[in-house]
Amino acid sequence: MRKLQNHLDDTGAMIVFENSENESFQARRLFCIYGVSSDSKRGNHANINSEFLMICLKGHVKIGVFDGKTEKEYVLRSPEDALYIPRMIWKTMYDFSEEAVLLVLSDQLYDADEYIRDFEEYIGVMKNNEETIHNNTGIL
Ligand code: TYD
Repeated sequence: MRKLQNHLDDTGAMIVFENSENESFQARRLFCIYGVSSDSKRGNHANINSEFLMICLKGHVKIGVFDGKTEKEYVLRSPEDALYIPRMIWKTMYDFSEEAVLLVLSDQLYDADEYIRDFEEYIGVMKNNEETIHNNTGIL
C-alpha cells in the first residue's frame, strides 16, 4: 500500500498519480468498479502480464491478495491509499460499502487471454513457477 500525494486546501482535496522517471508503474488503462452490492465479490483472477494500482475514490472496499503462498487483506478507505498489485497475484475485491467507487489503473491494455480465472489452474501455474513467487514476495 502506498500513499498518494494529497493537495489539500480550503476549497477541497486533490490526489495525484503521474508517470515519471521514478515511477516504475506506467498507467495505460483505467477502469472503475462501482454499483457493487456489499455481498458481491469481484475479481477472483490473476493476470499474467498486467500490473494494477487500485484506489477507492469513494466509500471503502476490501482487497484480498494471494501470491501462491501468502494471503493478505487490505482495506482501501481513502483516495490517498493506492494498492499496487503485481502480475500473477490472485485478487478479490469484496465488502464494497454503499456507493463505493474503485478506480483501477493498469499498465496494459485489456486482453481477456491474459487472465487466469480458475483458482486450481493458478495454483498449478504458481507451483511450476517458483521464480515468480520469489519475485513477488515482499511486495505484498
Ligand atoms: P471482470 O474482469 O470480470 O471484472 P472484475 O475484475 O471486476 O471481476 O470484467 C468484467 C467485464 O468487463 C468482462 O466482460 C470483461 C470486461 N472488461 C473489458 O472489456 N475491459 C477491461 O479493461 C476490463 C477490466 C474488463
